[in-house]
Amino acid sequence: MNKLSLTSWTGLDPLKPTYALAAGVDLVVIRWPDEEQASVLYGRCAHRGALMSDGRIEGGNIVCGVHDWDYCYKSGVSSYDPAEKLHRFNAWVEDDQVWVDEDEIRAWAVDNPQPYDRDAYQGLYKDLHGGAALQIYPAPGRARPRKGGTPWPGQRHGRSPRRVAQMGANPAPDRPAAQGPDVG
Ligand code: FES
Repeated sequence: MNKLSLTSWTGLDPLKPTYALAAGVDLVVIRWPDEEQASVLYGRCAHRGALMSDGRIEGGNIVCGVHDWDYCYKSGVSSYDPAEKLHRFNAWVEDDQVWVDEDEIRAWAVDNPQPYDRDAYQGLYKDLHGGAALQIYPAPGRARPRKGGTPWPGQRHGRSPRRVAQMGANPAPDRPAAQGPDVG
């Protein structure tokens, strides 16, 4: 056990995804609104690796800002397809700090090597799947409209060409069909 403080508890806005880094692993921290608790999840989207701290909270989900994949912000598991998840690390609040066990995160990183070179151009925003196209497509299996939404979320949020170029925006070629309930 190697206690590591990620951030102050009172310094976090409730339900505002916040970036943190520990043991070379990008994390997202979410302060719960009605309990003295915070989730510390792996901070990279399972789709194409966008930073989840650039996303938003909708209901019980943290939603990726690029193509809207969503995950329960408390558990990290997607209700759309439970096979899609952001690993949740143990975290606790003590002395107004959000703590994690750095050893746990370091051990996880051994099994899940992180390819991001923070000193390289676009290192933090590297798209590991590559692709030069600037169009945004719906991820396969998520092409249907969300409730009250436009045909696909990337269009709804209208990203700048620069942002799209940073993140890439091709559909995942191996996107599986939906297996869980439609959480719209
Ligand atoms: S990178 Fe997150 S939904 Fe595409």
